[in-house]
Amino acid sequence: MDKQEIIRLLKAKGEDRTQLLKRSRDVKEKEVGRKVYFRGLIEFSNICSKDCLYCGIRKSNEKVVRYNATDKEILEACRFAWENRFASLVLQSGEISSPMFVKRVDNLLKKIKQLSNNELGITLSCGEQTRETYLRWFESGAHRFLLRIESSNPELYYKIHPNNKTHSFEKRIEALHFLKETGYQVGTGVMVGLPFQTYEDLANDLLFFKKIDIDMCGMGPYIEHEDTPLYEYRNLLMPKQERFNLTLNMIAVLRLLMPDINIAAATALQAIDPVGREKALAVGANIIMPNLTPCNYRKEYQLYEDKPCLDEDAELCRNCLEARIELAGSEIGYEEWGDSKHFFKRVASEKLLKL
Ligand code: 5AD
Ligand code: FES
Repeated sequence: MDKQEIIRLLKAKGEDRTQLLKRSRDVKEKEVGRKVYFRGLIEFSNICSKDCLYCGIRKSNEKVVRYNATDKEILEACRFAWENRFASLVLQSGEISSPMFVKRVDNLLKKIKQLSNNELGITLSCGEQTRETYLRWFESGAHRFLLRIESSNPELYYKIHPNNKTHSFEKRIEALHFLKETGYQVGTGVMVGLPFQTYEDLANDLLFFKKIDIDMCGMGPYIEHEDTPLYEYRNLLMPKQERFNLTLNMIAVLRLLMPDINIAAATALQAIDPVGREKALAVGANIIMPNLTPCNYRKEYQLYEDKPCLDEDAELCRNCLEARIELAGSEIGYEEWGDSKHFFKRVASEKLLKL
């Protein structure tokens, strides 16, 4: 598929779009099967050293009450995941790289592995770190890492981030390479429907994923947040429903481009459509991340407006998800890590090349 073809598919409407979504669903079922895998999401701290212009918990947003969940709270959420047969967790936080934070995550990883007889798989989503930190966390038990590139176009990247050393596009790319070299299954992604973003940007994002050969992807619609600088440009946005539809088109095209990767049904989809994540699963996605963040902290982790699951407890969330996933014609891969098939093929071919 060349760029023009991708752009044409991203713009697809009506019957063309129905065909695209159907093709993607077929490819997904053939390549990764009908199973949906759960990753219990624990947003363990909203303290962040960055000032991303779109993000509700950016450092300069003084309205946010900052928290750090205790080890006990985090481990309880992990136990819940394990007892409910979720095979994997995602530990997510704002971006901090102090030695204390690095050590804390390291300790948590070891404790989670211990409490679950090494059964829980752990994905980290804790931003840009040094090569040494990535290695240390890998050795302590994390085996997947999510770091969205947000936009693969440096010009657009600097329209949505401050242009300074702490928000360097090059460093972000470098971090993705470090992660891969360390041996992680690497996930990245972008927001869809950002101000100033073009169809060509989105097509280039998909080609970027292919070029750097990612194992996992998460893409959600951009949703404006009142207390962020990017809110000023909300008049440039396409209507939310269009951002939603375009996100599904992005997922579908990515599934055609990279048939065997894991694709998450991003939570932000559900901020627009109450069954948004399920719609993504019915198209090309195969991963869902039920929120297991301790309930008292959830309202302080609002990256965007209308974030769902703010006052549900974890149990409720799981039950409603289960019913809905069944509705979407899938089954749940309980007690299975559901690792990226692409990763194993990639590693095998890298080994062959070295011989
Ligand atoms: N709208 C949608 N997604 C957002 N994220 C952060 N802020 C927003 C927003 N306003 C996404 C980013 C980040 C992920 C954790 O959440 O892509 O990588
Ligand atoms: Fe740090 Fe959003 S700016 S998590």
